[in-house]
Amino acid sequence: KQPCIIAPSILSADFARLGEEVDRVLAAGADWVHFDVMDNHYVPNLTIGPLVCEALRKHGITAPIDVHLMVKPVDRIIPDFAKAGATLISFHPEASEHIDRTIQLIKASGCQAGLVFNPATPLAYLDHVLDQLDLVLIMSVNPGFGGQSFIPSALDKLRSVRERIDRSGRPVRLEIDGGVKADNIAAIAAAGADTFVAGSAIFGQADYAGVIAAMRQAVAA
Ligand code: DX5
Ligand code: ZN
Repeated sequence: KQPCIIAPSILSADFARLGEEVDRVLAAGADWVHFDVMDNHYVPNLTIGPLVCEALRKHGITAPIDVHLMVKPVDRIIPDFAKAGATLISFHPEASEHIDRTIQLIKASGCQAGLVFNPATPLAYLDHVLDQLDLVLIMSVNPGFGGQSFIPSALDKLRSVRERIDRSGRPVRLEIDGGVKADNIAAIAAAGADTFVAGSAIFGQADYAGVIAAMRQAVAA
């Protein structure tokens, strides 16, 4: 099993001092920066784009930036994010006209590729592409907003994807996003996740290091 990754979602950070917030959360022990991109079209909210990703790199952030695209169309923004310093780029199959092509585009741009499943999106989308993916992201809320509650059916989904990944024998990361807290992360890890996005649970507390340590402890237990 791969080491656990904690990826705070900066959607819940203070955008007026984003550089400082990201510095703080990385100093507090975060592994990746989870970067939520929303377009007010595929999802009903509007957030940040490649300019902000580039600004974080210019600010001196060297940690992996895990870009979660909730945009439609998806292809034309991919090269911009690669140039802006994205490490991983994940997208929703419903937002792509040609899923295989989008994966190839991400890889040709020099980034790692992830596919994202909404709570009601069937895992059949994995059938012909799992061998090309670096990450599978299971949404445990409907995308668009931070601070929603964890949808329990995501646990069954994690177990199914964990089986598929193990059968593939490839080091594909299994990421969970939405409503992850220190008190449910153990069950989420037991269902097979190894990469944990958390927004409000981390940025909603004063002590980022305390929350991240509690999460790691719960995963290891
Ligand atoms: C939702 C985003 C999540 C969100 C998670 O569309 O993809 O990354 O910020 O926030 P919490 O952890 O508060 O559910
Ligand atoms: Zn996300």
